[in-house]
Amino acid sequence: MDRYLVFGHPVRHSKSPFIHSLFARQTQQELEYGLAEPAVDEFAHALRTFFDQGGKGCNVTVPFKEQAFTLVARLSPRAKRAGAVNTIKLTDDGVLLGDNTDGAGLVADLKSHSVTLADSRILLLGAGGAARGALAPLLAELPSELVIANRTHTKAQQLAAEFHDLGPVAAQTYEQLAGPFDLIINSTSASLQGELPPLASALIHTDIAIYDMMYGASDTAFIRWARQHGARQTMDGLGMLVEQAAEAFTVWRGIRPGTKQVLRELKRNLGVI
Ligand code: ATR
Repeated sequence: MDRYLVFGHPVRHSKSPFIHSLFARQTQQELEYGLAEPAVDEFAHALRTFFDQGGKGCNVTVPFKEQAFTLVARLSPRAKRAGAVNTIKLTDDGVLLGDNTDGAGLVADLKSHSVTLADSRILLLGAGGAARGALAPLLAELPSELVIANRTHTKAQQLAAEFHDLGPVAAQTYEQLAGPFDLIINSTSASLQGELPPLASALIHTDIAIYDMMYGASDTAFIRWARQHGARQTMDGLGMLVEQAAEAFTVWRGIRPGTKQVLRELKRNLGVI
């Protein structure tokens, strides 16, 4: 049977095996999807061993995405732009192709929530790996402006300069931000510590769409805060998780699974509904 897995550390609580087994059942593909948690300095060896032993493809998550980028023989254009790899496929000619499906997953999830991206003013919070992966797919949707704000401003400036050729992207400090924005995407890891990015509440209004790439069994701190200040449409990163997985499954199997039912089952599994 074709073997796939996700590499991460820690990875025990990953929902990827659950999601991919539902995709496989739905599309009647015979495959097995497991977990691997190598020590941080043993990822390269573990990756090589997996493919030497007949593995067909894998996902890569924190903290290995940047390292995976350096270990594959070939990179998709979107992985090159992201500077990170979350999906690896063994191609028919036997080489490892690195791809990045995170940004495509974000955009697919935003669209599934009917969020308009074309001609919109988008504020992206954070300038780490998650922000970098999102930038090219967001700019491909032709927003009127995409502003990046980050605690460490120089990182936002660097990102804006790097993606300037793809569209109207600018860096501003949190203090400089002036609304109205149509969409705010939180790519910071602040919610992980129950913290908030230092954003003025005046930027929140009733017609704004709020997206937090993080998710949990209950609302993230950022989503709670935005709702308290009047945001009606708030979304967490669970949909992005399922959509990036669907994109990876498509890369591997050449068949696109449906995501709606899988997202519902995942929410039930997490106790969200
Ligand atoms: P990831 O790969 O998830 O993007 P990362 O590369 O470590 O993780 O980036 C984390 C991002 O969250 C950074 O933009 C970080 O800001 P700094 O560049 O200033 O470190 C941001 N971040 C983390 N905690 C934050 C907090 N409490 N408030 C605001 N931004 C925060």
